[in-house]
Amino acid sequence: MSAARDCWILGNFKQNLGCAAVAEHLQALSAASQELRQRLENLHIGIAPTSLALDRAAARRSQCEGSPKNPVRLLAQNVAAQEEGAFTGEIGAGMLREIGCDLAIIGHSERRKYYGEQDALLAQKVAVCAKAQLGVVLCVGESLQERDEGRHAQVVIQQLTAGLAQFPSESSTPLLVAYEPVWAIGTGRSASVQQAQEMHALIREELGRLQGERGHGRSILYGGSVKAGNAAQLVRAADIDGFLVGGASLDPTSFHAIAQVASEHLSS
Ligand code: PGA
Repeated sequence: MSAARDCWILGNFKQNLGCAAVAEHLQALSAASQELRQRLENLHIGIAPTSLALDRAAARRSQCEGSPKNPVRLLAQNVAAQEEGAFTGEIGAGMLREIGCDLAIIGHSERRKYYGEQDALLAQKVAVCAKAQLGVVLCVGESLQERDEGRHAQVVIQQLTAGLAQFPSESSTPLLVAYEPVWAIGTGRSASVQQAQEMHALIREELGRLQGERGHGRSILYGGSVKAGNAAQLVRAADIDGFLVGGASLDPTSFHAIAQVASEHLSS
């Protein structure tokens, strides 16, 4: 990664860890990461727990040790596509912002696959987040079949352009992109550094085309079977600016080890 861009290490807990476990995790992570975060202002660490835990986690993190300038970021795993109204079961971007949530993950492959979320809906979610100033982590990534057929670049660029179709270019809402090849998620089979770098460079070029210099400078994270063991190699690639971590984020020690690896690279 380039030191000019921010590095983000984000943990996606998915449907794991209840409120008490999230509180313990946050406590352990905050203590372990205090030094990293104080020393490296452009390293951001965040967790996406169950939505039920966000309110308490937001209150708790203000009591945790750590630099107030750079606290653990809180992410929602999902957000409604509408601002508010009669949409049973949904949680609005403004509501998330109100409790102190910083960002929302949009377009994770599990949402696309199990809940049929498609690009048009995802673009709406991105738009409501931009309006509410809730940061966005837009996930893109091809399936194994799409890669085998040589369509990975085309699929990812389509997901990116469609997902950002309603994100105003002048918006100051934070926007990150996570490249997560579906075949690497939860499989133990990470993309190679070369495969990931190639896709990240492509995404960066497209972000530049869509949003100019600002787009070109956005942080692009890799996700898919990231562990402390493969993080060092990946984060050395020119266009990889951090990670979206699933399984390995559930244990604060292994999650912190990934942040540690990234920080070593950043400070070298
Ligand atoms: P994984 O998940 O690290 O368990 O592969 C990544 C993700 O789903 O974001």
